[in-house]
Amino acid sequence: MTNKELGHRPVLIEEVIEQLGPKDNETYIDATFGYGGYTERILQSCECKVIAIDRDPTVKKQAERFKKKYGSRFSFVHSKFSQIDKISKETKEKEINGFVFDIGVSSMQLDDGNKKGEFCAIYYNKNKYRLIKSSTFWLSENPSEVSIGWDAALERICTYAQFETLNGKDKIWIFNTHFDHFGKTAREQSAKLLIIIKINID
Ligand SMILES: C[S@@+](CC[C@H](N)C(=O)[O-])C[C@H]1O[C@@H](n2cnc3c(N)ncnc32)[C@H](O)[C@@H]1O
Repeated sequence: MTNKELGHRPVLIEEVIEQLGPKDNETYIDATFGYGGYTERILQSCECKVIAIDRDPTVKKQAERFKKKYGSRFSFVHSKFSQIDKISKETKEKEINGFVFDIGVSSMQLDDGNKKGEFCAIYYNKNKYRLIKSSTFWLSENPSEVSIGWDAALERICTYAQFETLNGKDKIWIFNTHFDHFGKTAREQSAKLLIIIKINID
């Protein structure tokens, strides 16, 4: 599946391409392959090669798809970027012409509801607050079910909690959420949903 089909939009990709300036017959290392958004854009920009690295074994399937699509222009190394020096020396390519790093986690890694799951954690100081109630809902037309809302690309959630100070004087609501990066309607409707839910639980 391509990044376009997945609604995956790599962060700052045009700026990265501008700085890297990929050229035919050159070789680049994508030190944080993830879902391959950077690698794909680099490979599509000219007849170059990419050596991709990622420490997360779950991205291997995407790497296999890239291998089928781009053949010898693409290779994947399941490793940490701290090994980049060793990987650069061991490659058969005569030189590495540029490196890209996109540090963090890919949203695809958080949307795996089986092993990791999207989460919007709320941390609080138990020496100051007592939890009154908390819950999670999906930003969609069916907030109580695992679901993708409106024109969103991915499942999005909101976790909320109400706290009380230990002296019982004050109460506070916290809503932690992550609006969709792709769907404008989803973002607008998600904001409205937050207000509706807040009114109904208060
Ligand atoms: C923000 S994502 C990269 C997204 C990618 N640029 C794309 O467009 O799909 C960051 C990736 O870095 C990987 N990563 C984190 N620490 C790493 C490390 N020490 N070595 C290699 N990869 C690492 C994560 O597993 C994750 O896949």
